[in-house]
Amino acid sequence: MTVRENSWVLITGASSGFGKEFARQYAAKGKSLILVARRLNELEALADELRSRFDVDVMVQQADLSSINVIIDLHRRLRDSNTVVDVLINNAGYGLQGAFLDEPLESSLAMIDLDVASLTAITRLFAEDMRARHKGHILMTASLLSYQGVKNFAVYSAAKAYVLRFSDALHRELKQDGVVVTALCPGMSDTGFAASAKQKITPVLKRVMMQPEPVVRAGIQALHAGRMSVVPGFGNKAIAVLTWATPRRLHQGLMSRVMGV
Ligand SMILES: NC(=O)c1ccc[n+]([C@@H]2O[C@H](COP(=O)([O-])OP(=O)(O)OC[C@H]3O[C@@H](n4cnc5c(N)ncnc54)[C@H](OP(=O)(O)O)[C@@H]3O)[C@@H](O)[C@H]2O)c1
Repeated sequence: MTVRENSWVLITGASSGFGKEFARQYAAKGKSLILVARRLNELEALADELRSRFDVDVMVQQADLSSINVIIDLHRRLRDSNTVVDVLINNAGYGLQGAFLDEPLESSLAMIDLDVASLTAITRLFAEDMRARHKGHILMTASLLSYQGVKNFAVYSAAKAYVLRFSDALHRELKQDGVVVTALCPGMSDTGFAASAKQKITPVLKRVMMQPEPVVRAGIQALHAGRMSVVPGFGNKAIAVLTWATPRRLHQGLMSRVMGV
């Protein structure tokens, strides 16, 4: 009988896109997983697949993470069952494309609730446990849009700028406590993101679009190498360099055009 280590990888937004791919890649490494999202059927199907393909332990936790109370409850339940989360993949999130003034205020605020407030809360709870054990890894899925305010993605790009800055600061702050914090900054990728953002996919975007597999692989490598952040893919790296090397007015205008507005 295999005696498994009490060490779990918790992945938020595991029912689709990057989250699903994080689950597959960690399962392939033999890690025990906690899959979190709202769509229970998707999570159960993925859990079944991973158990039978990789013989790993998989726990499913259906949760709407836009509620802080739900996050507190999830953390409490895991702590009470002595489930040790050594890796936290803070990945659940979404964007919305549209002119700021044409979007209902509630939609913008709901996005901030998940992309910013919930990510902050879940990090606070699990990072505290990691600090006590002097051990842990936290990955934050930010975005290439973290680097600039993009027209018609005003709230989303601002939210992802928060994620990147928050992650950078914690990287330094928690290093001395044995906890690694890494930001993953993907560009346009082939997940459920575009559909939920009601995003127009321009021919340029279609050309640069990455598959989740290499994006997630870059994230996992960077996290376990202790890096502060990673931009996956050559094209995305080139955009990041352009952002650092050119005046804001220039790259911000360019990016707004590339994003299809
Ligand atoms: N794809 C891209 O082009 C791209 C680029 C840069 C950054 N990102 C970021 O990557 C992350 C993952 O997105 P994705 O691209 O993989 O898109 P996706 O395929 O739409 O996945 C989003 C995930 O978030 C979960 N989620 C959404 N609202 C939730 C809630 N209230 N509570 C719990 N889970 C929730 C969804 O699960 P349920 O619906 O089942 O709850 C789903 O599993 C996001 O943070 C996104 O901003 C994406």
